[in-house]
Amino acid sequence: MKAIILAGGTGSRLYPLTQVASKQLQAVFDKPMIYYPLTVLMASGVSQLCLISTPDDLPRYQRLLGDGRQWGVSIEYREQSKPEGIAQALLIAADFVGLDSVVLMLGDNIFSGGDDFPRAISSFEGGAAIFAYHVKDPKRYGVVEFDGSGKAISIEEKPCHPKSSYAVPGVYIYDNDVLDIARKIKPSARGELEITDVNLEYLRRGKLQVRRLSRGFAWLDAGTSTALHEASAYIEAIERRQGVKIGCPEESALVRGFLGIEDFEVLIGKMPTCEYSDYLRSVADEWHRLNGEK
Ligand code: DAU
Repeated sequence: MKAIILAGGTGSRLYPLTQVASKQLQAVFDKPMIYYPLTVLMASGVSQLCLISTPDDLPRYQRLLGDGRQWGVSIEYREQSKPEGIAQALLIAADFVGLDSVVLMLGDNIFSGGDDFPRAISSFEGGAAIFAYHVKDPKRYGVVEFDGSGKAISIEEKPCHPKSSYAVPGVYIYDNDVLDIARKIKPSARGELEITDVNLEYLRRGKLQVRRLSRGFAWLDAGTSTALHEASAYIEAIERRQGVKIGCPEESALVRGFLGIEDFEVLIGKMPTCEYSDYLRSVADEWHRLNGEK
């Protein structure tokens, strides 16, 4: 399984923050927003990643994330010159996907709790798997309708009259047929290649699985300055209460075995003294304690 992270767009609703760096580079409490989706993917065992962003922002991501080797994964980069739709990411990264299946993830989707994504990725057998999450304001999203037996029967993009309260979060798992499907869809009325049209094609073929995310699962929005602030406060509260960090790629690399403990400690050694490196040191100590070393 490969992964594409889409981190382009204009981020106009976060102006003037986005005059200096893209939305997905903004801080969500103690780390850049992009760390959160990246960590979800790494924690799911995906180690071949491709990040797509604007020509202006791409160098900033490259500086932040490098080629991924420091975390035992590989990160490639591709440009999206104009924001012409989420599904365009599949066309831009088609050569990266090759003959594999792929998870496409939006760089501004922040999740916390549960192991729904790792389980969906490891058990994925073909077709498409997307998710559904109960929200108060479904009009802003792709909305999925279920029949009495819990089977998905329709998906609508930003409907005026939503048929349910279940929004589709920005995590989409596809088999390789998605490349062909993405090539065939046409731009919508707003001029974008809609990811909902890709999902509808899988639904039409009877190959779309929609998994409902559990109630305890948090899907945070960071689309406006207020929402960004609230997401930061949420992450801060959980991290302080639990003493564990959310969205920490180094930790996922260690847990997933992409990095051994020695390389993990070398990585910490290169960081300045700060709360983040202190935390990683505590992760290393815990690793030694559990493994009966040192
Ligand atoms: O967040 C989940 C929702 O994402 C889904 O429920 C919707 O079905 C899906 O269409 C999408 O809705 P949004 O209105 O949030 O899409 P938006 O245009 O804001 O783009 C989402 C992110 O993807 C945003 O951070 C910018 C980035 N993006 C978007 C487009 C259209 C790109 O990088 N390139 C693009 O061409």
